[in-house]
Amino acid sequence: MSAGRVVIAHLSDLHFGGYADLAQIEALESFLPTLEADATVISGDLSQRARHGEFQAAHAFVNRLRPHAPVLVVPGNHDIEWWKSPLGFLGERRKYRKYSRYFGDLTPVMEIPGAVLAGALSSYGVALGSLTWNIRDVAVKGHLPKSETDRVAEIFAKGPPGAARVLVFHHNVLPGAVSRRMGLARWRSAHRRLLATGADVVLCGHDHQEGAGQVDGTLAVSTSGTHSHRSRGGRPSVFNLVSVEPGAVHIQHFRWEPTTREFQRSDAFSFARAGPPKVTVSVAGGDQGL
Ligand SMILES: [Fe+2]
Ligand SMILES: [Fe+2]
Repeated sequence: MSAGRVVIAHLSDLHFGGYADLAQIEALESFLPTLEADATVISGDLSQRARHGEFQAAHAFVNRLRPHAPVLVVPGNHDIEWWKSPLGFLGERRKYRKYSRYFGDLTPVMEIPGAVLAGALSSYGVALGSLTWNIRDVAVKGHLPKSETDRVAEIFAKGPPGAARVLVFHHNVLPGAVSRRMGLARWRSAHRRLLATGADVVLCGHDHQEGAGQVDGTLAVSTSGTHSHRSRGGRPSVFNLVSVEPGAVHIQHFRWEPTTREFQRSDAFSFARAGPPKVTVSVAGGDQGL
Protein backbone atom coordinates (compact mmCIF):
# COMPACT_ATOMS: atom_id res chain seq x y z
CA MET A 1 0.00 0.00 0.00
CA SER A 2 1.30 3.46 -0.86
CA ALA A 3 -0.39 6.82 -0.12
CA GLY A 4 -3.90 5.45 0.39
CA ARG A 5 -3.60 3.03 -2.53
CA VAL A 6 -4.21 -0.71 -2.23
CA VAL A 7 -3.06 -3.00 -5.04
CA ILE A 8 -4.43 -6.51 -5.58
CA ALA A 9 -3.25 -9.10 -8.09
CA HIS A 10 -6.45 -10.80 -9.29
CA LEU A 11 -6.20 -14.25 -10.87
CA SER A 12 -8.92 -16.75 -11.67
CA ASP A 13 -9.68 -20.12 -13.26
CA LEU A 14 -6.27 -21.75 -12.99
CA HIS A 15 -7.90 -25.15 -13.65
CA PHE A 16 -5.02 -27.32 -12.48
CA GLY A 17 -5.35 -30.66 -14.26
CA GLY A 18 -5.22 -31.44 -17.95
CA TYR A 19 -5.97 -27.92 -19.18
CA ALA A 20 -3.62 -25.79 -17.03
CA ASP A 21 -1.04 -23.90 -19.09
CA LEU A 22 2.14 -24.69 -17.16
CA ALA A 23 4.17 -22.03 -19.00
CA GLN A 24 1.74 -19.42 -17.68
CA ILE A 25 1.72 -20.87 -14.18
CA GLU A 26 5.51 -20.74 -14.02
CA ALA A 27 5.56 -17.21 -15.47
CA LEU A 28 3.00 -16.08 -12.85
CA GLU A 29 5.20 -17.42 -10.06
CA SER A 30 8.12 -15.26 -11.14
CA PHE A 31 6.18 -12.23 -12.47
CA LEU A 32 3.60 -11.64 -9.72
CA PRO A 33 6.19 -10.76 -7.02
CA THR A 34 7.57 -8.01 -9.27
CA LEU A 35 4.17 -6.25 -9.14
CA GLU A 36 4.52 -5.78 -5.35
CA ALA A 37 0.78 -6.15 -4.78
CA ASP A 38 -0.61 -5.91 -1.24
CA ALA A 39 -2.63 -9.10 -1.71
CA THR A 40 -3.32 -11.81 -4.27
CA VAL A 41 -6.84 -13.06 -4.96
CA ILE A 42 -7.78 -16.24 -6.83
CA SER A 43 -11.48 -16.17 -7.62
CA GLY A 44 -12.19 -19.88 -8.01
CA ASP A 45 -11.88 -22.84 -10.39
CA LEU A 46 -8.48 -23.85 -9.06
CA SER A 47 -9.14 -27.40 -10.28
CA GLN A 48 -10.79 -29.04 -13.28
CA ARG A 49 -12.62 -31.93 -11.60
CA ALA A 50 -12.05 -31.33 -7.85
CA ARG A 51 -9.43 -34.09 -7.78
CA HIS A 52 -6.85 -34.41 -5.01
CA GLY A 53 -3.90 -34.06 -7.41
CA GLU A 54 -5.38 -30.88 -8.90
CA PHE A 55 -5.95 -29.35 -5.49
CA GLN A 56 -2.45 -30.36 -4.40
CA ALA A 57 -0.92 -28.59 -7.41
CA ALA A 58 -3.07 -25.51 -6.73
CA HIS A 59 -2.12 -25.61 -3.05
CA ALA A 60 1.60 -25.70 -3.92
CA PHE A 61 1.11 -22.76 -6.32
CA VAL A 62 -0.66 -20.71 -3.65
CA ASN A 63 2.08 -21.52 -1.13
CA ARG A 64 4.73 -20.26 -3.51
CA LEU A 65 2.87 -16.93 -3.78
CA ARG A 66 2.27 -16.48 -0.05
CA PRO A 67 5.74 -15.21 0.93
CA HIS A 68 5.21 -12.21 -1.38
CA ALA A 69 1.66 -11.21 -0.36
CA PRO A 70 -1.28 -12.72 1.53
CA VAL A 71 -3.51 -14.85 -0.71
CA LEU A 72 -7.31 -15.09 -0.60
CA VAL A 73 -8.97 -18.02 -2.42
CA VAL A 74 -12.66 -18.87 -3.02
CA PRO A 75 -14.12 -21.99 -4.68
CA GLY A 76 -15.51 -22.11 -8.22
CA ASN A 77 -18.05 -24.50 -9.71
CA HIS A 78 -15.25 -26.89 -10.77
CA ASP A 79 -13.95 -27.11 -7.19
CA ILE A 80 -17.00 -28.65 -5.59
CA GLU A 81 -18.17 -32.25 -5.68
CA TRP A 82 -21.81 -31.40 -6.28
CA TRP A 83 -22.61 -35.01 -7.25
CA LYS A 84 -22.00 -36.01 -3.63
CA SER A 85 -25.09 -34.05 -2.60
CA PRO A 86 -27.28 -33.06 -5.58
CA LEU A 87 -29.76 -30.35 -4.61
CA GLY A 88 -28.26 -30.56 -1.12
CA PHE A 89 -30.21 -33.76 -0.31
CA LEU A 90 -27.27 -35.20 1.62
CA GLY A 91 -26.29 -31.95 3.29
CA GLU A 92 -24.33 -28.96 2.10
CA ARG A 93 -20.96 -29.83 3.64
CA ARG A 94 -20.21 -32.98 1.64
CA LYS A 95 -19.67 -31.21 -1.66
CA TYR A 96 -17.14 -28.75 -0.18
CA ARG A 97 -15.21 -31.20 2.02
CA LYS A 98 -12.35 -31.87 -0.38
CA TYR A 99 -11.87 -28.19 -1.31
CA SER A 100 -11.88 -27.19 2.37
CA ARG A 101 -9.25 -29.79 3.17
CA TYR A 102 -6.81 -27.80 1.03
CA PHE A 103 -8.07 -24.23 1.24
CA GLY A 104 -10.09 -24.06 4.44
CA ASP A 105 -12.81 -21.47 4.73
CA LEU A 106 -15.30 -21.20 1.84
CA THR A 107 -15.85 -17.50 2.60
CA PRO A 108 -12.52 -16.15 3.87
CA VAL A 109 -12.19 -12.61 5.17
CA MET A 110 -8.86 -10.80 5.12
CA GLU A 111 -7.96 -7.43 6.53
CA ILE A 112 -4.79 -5.75 5.30
CA PRO A 113 -3.69 -2.13 5.80
CA GLY A 114 -6.16 -0.01 3.85
CA ALA A 115 -8.54 -2.80 2.76
CA VAL A 116 -11.05 -5.41 3.84
CA LEU A 117 -11.40 -8.37 1.47
CA ALA A 118 -14.45 -10.62 1.86
CA GLY A 119 -15.03 -13.89 0.02
CA ALA A 120 -18.63 -14.90 -0.79
CA LEU A 121 -19.93 -18.24 -1.97
CA SER A 122 -21.56 -18.33 -5.42
CA SER A 123 -20.75 -22.00 -6.27
CA TYR A 124 -23.41 -24.50 -5.17
CA GLY A 125 -23.40 -27.07 -8.01
CA VAL A 126 -26.84 -28.47 -8.79
CA ALA A 127 -28.84 -26.27 -6.46
CA LEU A 128 -32.31 -24.76 -6.74
CA GLY A 129 -31.02 -21.16 -6.65
CA SER A 130 -28.64 -21.79 -9.57
CA LEU A 131 -31.10 -23.56 -11.88
CA THR A 132 -32.27 -21.85 -15.07
CA TRP A 133 -34.30 -23.00 -18.08
CA ASN A 134 -31.05 -23.68 -19.98
CA ILE A 135 -29.87 -27.29 -19.57
CA ARG A 136 -26.27 -26.17 -20.23
CA ASP A 137 -26.34 -24.19 -17.01
CA VAL A 138 -26.79 -27.21 -14.74
CA ALA A 139 -23.86 -27.36 -12.25
CA VAL A 140 -22.21 -24.45 -14.10
CA LYS A 141 -24.18 -21.34 -13.17
CA GLY A 142 -23.95 -19.91 -9.67
CA HIS A 143 -26.07 -17.70 -7.51
CA LEU A 144 -25.56 -15.25 -4.69
CA PRO A 145 -28.11 -15.74 -1.91
CA LYS A 146 -29.33 -12.81 0.18
CA SER A 147 -27.71 -14.41 3.22
CA GLU A 148 -24.33 -14.00 1.50
CA THR A 149 -24.77 -10.34 0.50
CA ASP A 150 -26.19 -9.54 3.97
CA ARG A 151 -23.22 -11.24 5.65
CA VAL A 152 -20.72 -9.33 3.50
CA ALA A 153 -22.53 -6.01 4.07
CA GLU A 154 -22.11 -6.55 7.81
CA ILE A 155 -18.39 -7.26 7.45
CA PHE A 156 -17.88 -4.16 5.32
CA ALA A 157 -19.92 -1.99 7.73
CA LYS A 158 -17.54 -2.94 10.54
CA GLY A 159 -14.39 -2.21 8.48
CA PRO A 160 -12.17 0.80 9.17
CA PRO A 161 -13.52 4.04 7.65
CA GLY A 162 -12.00 4.72 4.26
CA ALA A 163 -10.64 1.19 3.82
CA ALA A 164 -11.22 -0.34 0.39
CA ARG A 165 -14.06 -2.90 0.44
CA VAL A 166 -13.23 -5.76 -1.91
CA LEU A 167 -15.81 -8.49 -2.55
CA VAL A 168 -14.62 -11.78 -4.09
CA PHE A 169 -16.65 -14.65 -5.55
CA HIS A 170 -16.42 -16.91 -8.57
CA HIS A 171 -19.25 -16.31 -11.05
CA ASN A 172 -19.12 -13.33 -13.38
CA VAL A 173 -21.39 -10.44 -12.49
CA LEU A 174 -21.33 -8.79 -15.91
CA PRO A 175 -21.92 -10.55 -19.26
CA GLY A 176 -18.78 -11.79 -21.04
CA ALA A 177 -17.83 -9.75 -24.12
CA VAL A 178 -17.80 -12.90 -26.30
CA SER A 179 -20.08 -15.29 -24.40
CA ARG A 180 -22.69 -12.59 -23.65
CA ARG A 181 -23.53 -14.79 -20.66
CA MET A 182 -23.92 -14.03 -16.99
CA GLY A 183 -22.29 -16.38 -14.48
CA LEU A 184 -24.93 -15.68 -11.86
CA ALA A 185 -28.51 -16.85 -12.08
CA ARG A 186 -31.07 -14.24 -10.96
CA TRP A 187 -28.51 -11.55 -11.62
CA ARG A 188 -30.87 -8.58 -11.40
CA SER A 189 -31.60 -9.10 -7.73
CA ALA A 190 -27.92 -9.98 -7.18
CA HIS A 191 -26.95 -6.63 -8.71
CA ARG A 192 -29.31 -4.74 -6.40
CA ARG A 193 -27.96 -6.54 -3.36
CA LEU A 194 -24.33 -6.13 -4.45
CA LEU A 195 -24.79 -2.37 -4.59
CA ALA A 196 -26.10 -2.44 -1.01
CA THR A 197 -23.07 -4.32 0.38
CA GLY A 198 -20.91 -1.19 0.32
CA ALA A 199 -18.28 -2.90 -1.86
CA ASP A 200 -15.89 -0.67 -3.83
CA VAL A 201 -15.02 -3.42 -6.27
CA VAL A 202 -16.10 -7.00 -7.07
CA LEU A 203 -13.47 -9.54 -8.17
CA CYS A 204 -14.84 -12.53 -10.11
CA GLY A 205 -14.01 -14.93 -12.95
CA HIS A 206 -15.70 -17.98 -14.52
CA ASP A 207 -16.25 -16.52 -18.01
CA HIS A 208 -12.66 -17.36 -19.11
CA GLN A 209 -12.42 -13.91 -20.62
CA GLU A 210 -11.21 -10.79 -18.87
CA GLY A 211 -13.46 -7.84 -18.26
CA ALA A 212 -13.61 -4.49 -16.51
CA GLY A 213 -16.89 -2.68 -15.98
CA GLN A 214 -19.46 -1.47 -13.50
CA VAL A 215 -22.74 -2.60 -12.02
CA ASP A 216 -25.31 0.15 -12.51
CA GLY A 217 -22.59 2.66 -13.39
CA THR A 218 -21.33 2.74 -9.81
CA LEU A 219 -19.74 -0.51 -8.60
CA ALA A 220 -16.48 -1.52 -10.33
CA VAL A 221 -16.12 -5.16 -11.43
CA SER A 222 -12.87 -6.93 -12.28
CA THR A 223 -13.33 -10.19 -14.18
CA SER A 224 -10.09 -12.14 -14.53
CA GLY A 225 -9.48 -14.66 -17.34
CA THR A 226 -8.12 -18.19 -17.21
CA HIS A 227 -4.59 -19.62 -17.20
CA SER A 228 -5.77 -22.82 -18.83
CA HIS A 229 -6.00 -23.77 -22.49
CA ARG A 230 -9.73 -23.07 -22.36
CA SER A 231 -9.77 -19.30 -22.82
CA ARG A 232 -12.92 -17.91 -24.40
CA GLY A 233 -12.66 -17.99 -28.19
CA GLY A 234 -8.99 -19.00 -27.99
CA ARG A 235 -8.09 -15.44 -26.99
CA PRO A 236 -4.88 -14.74 -25.04
CA SER A 237 -5.09 -15.29 -21.29
CA VAL A 238 -5.34 -12.21 -19.11
CA PHE A 239 -5.12 -11.46 -15.41
CA ASN A 240 -5.87 -8.16 -13.69
CA LEU A 241 -4.06 -5.83 -11.34
CA VAL A 242 -6.67 -3.90 -9.35
CA SER A 243 -5.77 -0.66 -7.55
CA VAL A 244 -8.17 1.07 -5.20
CA GLU A 245 -7.47 4.73 -4.42
CA PRO A 246 -9.54 7.16 -2.32
CA GLY A 247 -11.53 8.31 -5.37
CA ALA A 248 -11.02 5.64 -8.03
CA VAL A 249 -10.69 1.97 -8.90
CA HIS A 250 -8.19 1.06 -11.63
CA ILE A 251 -8.18 -2.29 -13.45
CA GLN A 252 -5.02 -3.07 -15.42
CA HIS A 253 -5.02 -6.11 -17.72
CA PHE A 254 -1.86 -8.20 -18.21
CA ARG A 255 -1.96 -10.32 -21.38
CA TRP A 256 -0.06 -13.56 -21.94
CA GLU A 257 2.26 -13.56 -24.96
CA PRO A 258 2.82 -17.23 -25.90
CA THR A 259 5.71 -16.43 -28.26
CA THR A 260 7.82 -14.61 -25.66
CA ARG A 261 6.29 -16.54 -22.75
CA GLU A 262 5.65 -13.45 -20.65
CA PHE A 263 2.81 -11.31 -19.40
CA GLN A 264 2.60 -7.85 -20.92
CA ARG A 265 0.80 -4.75 -19.66
CA SER A 266 -2.34 -4.38 -21.78
CA ASP A 267 -5.58 -2.32 -21.55
CA ALA A 268 -6.40 -0.31 -18.42
CA PHE A 269 -9.72 1.01 -17.12
CA SER A 270 -10.54 3.52 -14.38
CA PHE A 271 -13.83 3.98 -12.56
CA ALA A 272 -15.04 6.36 -9.86
CA ARG A 273 -15.04 4.58 -6.50
CA ALA A 274 -18.54 3.65 -5.34
CA GLY A 275 -18.09 4.49 -1.66
CA PRO A 276 -20.64 3.62 1.01
CA PRO A 277 -24.16 2.67 -0.15
CA LYS A 278 -26.63 5.50 -0.61
CA VAL A 279 -29.27 5.69 2.11
CA THR A 280 -32.88 6.59 1.62
CA VAL A 281 -34.01 9.29 4.05
CA SER A 282 -37.69 9.59 4.84
CA VAL A 283 -38.88 13.17 4.52
CA ALA A 284 -42.40 14.39 5.23
CA GLY A 285 -44.55 13.41 2.27
CA GLY A 286 -42.25 10.74 0.86
CA ASP A 287 -38.77 9.32 0.41
CA GLN A 288 -35.86 10.99 -1.25
CA GLY A 289 -33.15 8.73 -2.57
CA LEU A 290 -29.95 10.49 -1.58
FE1 LIG B 1 -13.43 -21.87 -15.09
FE1 LIG C 1 -16.36 -21.56 -13.33
